[in-house]
Amino acid sequence: MSVPIRTIASANGLEATRLAYQMILNGSDVLPAVVEGVTLVEDDPDDMTVGYGGLPNEDGIVELDAAVMHGPTHRAGGIAGLRNVRHAAKLAQLVMEQTKHHLLVGEGANAFARAQGFPEEDLLTDKTRKIWLYWRQTSSDRDDWLPPPYEQLDPAVIEFFKLTKDHGPETVYQRSEVADRPTGTIHCSGIDAQGNLSCVTTTSGLAFKIPGRVGDSPLIGAGLYVDNEVGSCGSTGRGEENIRNCSSHLGVELMRQGISPKEAGLEVLRRLVKQVRERWLLGADGKPNFGLKLYLINREGDFAGASIWGPSKFAVTDDQGTRFEPCAYLFEKPTKT
Ligand code: GLY
Repeated sequence: MSVPIRTIASANGLEATRLAYQMILNGSDVLPAVVEGVTLVEDDPDDMTVGYGGLPNEDGIVELDAAVMHGPTHRAGGIAGLRNVRHAAKLAQLVMEQTKHHLLVGEGANAFARAQGFPEEDLLTDKTRKIWLYWRQTSSDRDDWLPPPYEQLDPAVIEFFKLTKDHGPETVYQRSEVADRPTGTIHCSGIDAQGNLSCVTTTSGLAFKIPGRVGDSPLIGAGLYVDNEVGSCGSTGRGEENIRNCSSHLGVELMRQGISPKEAGLEVLRRLVKQVRERWLLGADGKPNFGLKLYLINREGDFAGASIWGPSKFAVTDDQGTRFEPCAYLFEKPTKT
């Protein structure tokens, strides 16, 4: 059997797909190729969703989660609550390759990184520190923090919170609800010409999370899952909902029934949305106030992105080139007036 070599990723992973595709084309196993791809994004200070320059927890400390899964061996490795080490995906790969465990967390994850010779550094950039500080200063009117006047705000803060001069702390306080707190992440998966699949998901998690919060990204079956005989599924977006619905495992199981990647992704999201009852997760229209996307690829190389909200896009590289493709979606984003 020969299938087209292909890599897919969340929209922030365009360059990750390009690099991973080239490595697979040159004969690399799929897993190190996709890990090398997302490492580009972990190194990028301008991507505030992963690695160096990722948004921090509520104490202003960056905590990273990541996992890998290797189709041919069905082995996996993960890291959660990692501090001061930017390459969470590579560390997750080493958990898979050089331990008998699947998930190392917190202090244990950091000790493992030290043992493996990973350098330690402050992952907060000046930009993410200023964004965190403004969030801290405006997240409650019942503490002693106050924001500076609008004129003294850094343009990056104004852009991030979409502030206008009229916006006072009260308005911003509302903006800090879950709907406006990024859960950006990068997922990347790939398939080689023999139909072997592997994938990786890496993230700084929910911005301003409670320290110690672990999202879906390092959890096999939630943030990613591969069955080499069926396909791969991974996700970005609000991790809590993926965890309680085992979304990536479900996506692969639906593909096992012969359902296309697109329809499998949409069906996972339909089931997930049906289970949402909490008032803090629902908008006034009864629809989810959070985003979640799935990236699926089956053993034949068919692929799709599926999103709760659209239009949105995901990244692909194959023999047709490196490009964005549209995600299928459940609901159209309301147009801002
Ligand atoms: N999906 C990333 C997170 O919720 O942490």
